[in-house]
Amino acid sequence: MEKNGIEAVKARISIVDVVRRYVDLKPVSGRWMGACPFHQETKPSMSVNDEEGFFYCFGCQASGDVIDFYMRINGLEFREALEQLAAEAGIELGYSAPDPHAAERKARKKLMLDIHDEACAWFKRNLRMETGRIARDYLSRRGIAAEVIDKFGLGYSPDDWHGLDRHFRSKGISQEDSVLAGMLVKNEKGNIYDRFRSRLIFPIQNLSSKVIAFGGRIISEGEPKYLNSSDTPIYKKGDHLYGLNLARPSMTRTRRAILTEGYMDVISLHQFGYTDACGVLGTALTPDQVKRLAGFCSRVDLVFDGDNAGRKAALKSSRMILLQGVACRVLLMPDGEDVDSLLQTHGRDGFEQCAETAPDGLDFCLSTLREKFSPREIMDWAKGFLKDLGDSSLRAYYLPRIANGLGLNEAELRQNAGGAWSAQTTRAKKKPENNEAAQTRPVGKDDKDDKYFISFPIQYPDYIRDLDKKGFERILATNWAKALWEKLKTQQPGADILSRLNDNEKRFYIRCRERLRENMLSGKQLLDEWEHICNKIASGQQRLNRWQLKEALLQAQQAGDSQRIMQCLRALNESLGRDDEQH
Ligand code: CTP
Ligand code: MN
Repeated sequence: MEKNGIEAVKARISIVDVVRRYVDLKPVSGRWMGACPFHQETKPSMSVNDEEGFFYCFGCQASGDVIDFYMRINGLEFREALEQLAAEAGIELGYSAPDPHAAERKARKKLMLDIHDEACAWFKRNLRMETGRIARDYLSRRGIAAEVIDKFGLGYSPDDWHGLDRHFRSKGISQEDSVLAGMLVKNEKGNIYDRFRSRLIFPIQNLSSKVIAFGGRIISEGEPKYLNSSDTPIYKKGDHLYGLNLARPSMTRTRRAILTEGYMDVISLHQFGYTDACGVLGTALTPDQVKRLAGFCSRVDLVFDGDNAGRKAALKSSRMILLQGVACRVLLMPDGEDVDSLLQTHGRDGFEQCAETAPDGLDFCLSTLREKFSPREIMDWAKGFLKDLGDSSLRAYYLPRIANGLGLNEAELRQNAGGAWSAQTTRAKKKPENNEAAQTRPVGKDDKDDKYFISFPIQYPDYIRDLDKKGFERILATNWAKALWEKLKTQQPGADILSRLNDNEKRFYIRCRERLRENMLSGKQLLDEWEHICNKIASGQQRLNRWQLKEALLQAQQAGDSQRIMQCLRALNESLGRDDEQH
């Protein structure tokens, strides 16, 4: 059902029409070009292909279909983007079939959002009323400006066990729902009361600026200092970043994110003009959060306390960020300060001074390791890091830098760490057709070869059927290329291929199609290319045959079957002879 919805949206809505709302597009030699909104750019670096329904930026390589574009430019989740575009095109998205509870879940989520909305409005109102004077005084003592109080929607929960409880009931919101939303707490005795009392309230918003949770700081005495919403149907700890919805527009401009630990830190950073700042919300940074950031920026400036705990957290966080191929720096705050107190006492200059001397993330990791860890621990760290890198090109990027930073010989590190990742990247040893190649081919070559091979059917889909008949998949070595080939070859004519591809495949596919427009092969070149690939398939087939013959020969020898031995030898000779003729 959903698949149909996606295809219908893409068939009905022109990507050029959508992109045009945000970007000035001009026709340039048969295609639409404009300044890419996803990185800092004034020259027209983004091309939009209406016919095939995708966009591609030559500068930052952002790419995707109309839904991807709409998601990214509006900071929406896939679902939300699809729903909005469908509504625009007048398409009914039927959700019923796959999940009988979907409608119910959706209704419950909507209810949870409404409850948060209502609570947020009430907290904000309290801050302005007499009851909120204590909180207003507190904010002014801390030097928080009125604009940022508004921008972040700060509020106040009075010193009252049933304030919100009463308010909700007057609005017809049941206690049961309020407990589910985490706004009220039900204790073992069955008593129900407000979760947040006597606290300054920080609403936590998702990328569509919907309030999904709260943080609350105690104002007078009391424990804990900060209280956060527990997990609810609309909020999961570690999924969101505080202030990301507000920081996103500047992040896409600066391509940087400032990431800090505290609510107050984020707010002060914005007040002092660092509008690309957001916060991790009281837990350790998670890979999901890094992924979220990676969509908007190329560099993260991590802000941590300069104490031991801060350094330890910085080591873990920068490792996580570097692993995703995002650059980072580590800004350690001076003794006893956090970024909020630094800004409030020393202003932007104080912060800039810290930033100037901030080490690059990898350098920070390596120097911390050298200072604090044993040689064994250092090597384990380096090996673990290289192993956890999903991407072999990133490994090529980091390896010399790590070797250099640890004073190791690059080849030695490669060899030592080799065991850690070779199992995933070289071909599985068991497969006969791969056996020869696995030993002779350098790591990374498979990937490159496959990229070259598979770009051919992407660029010249007319050849897919013939390639399939000739056994094209045999020359593909990597799983990603095989999986992509499977999708290409089962593609129905006229159907939308992009919605069947995952993010990496889509990016690769679009790049290939984009290259094709830059450099279309002439008839003669195309035939040469076709012949070259056919030869590759044929020689791959011969290698496979020979390997099977050698196996058979070995078995015949073990069994002492002289007739079979002769057969195999003859066949092997023949196969080798044919090879000679060819070269
Ligand atoms: N935190 C939390 N729960 C706590 C303490 C801290 O979730 N019990 C989180 C909050 O997000 C907090 C951050 O950790 O903002 C940093 O904590 P801390 O340094 O103690 O507070 P500050 O942010 O400096 O707050 P303030 O300046 O208001 O004292
Ligand atoms: Mn602080």
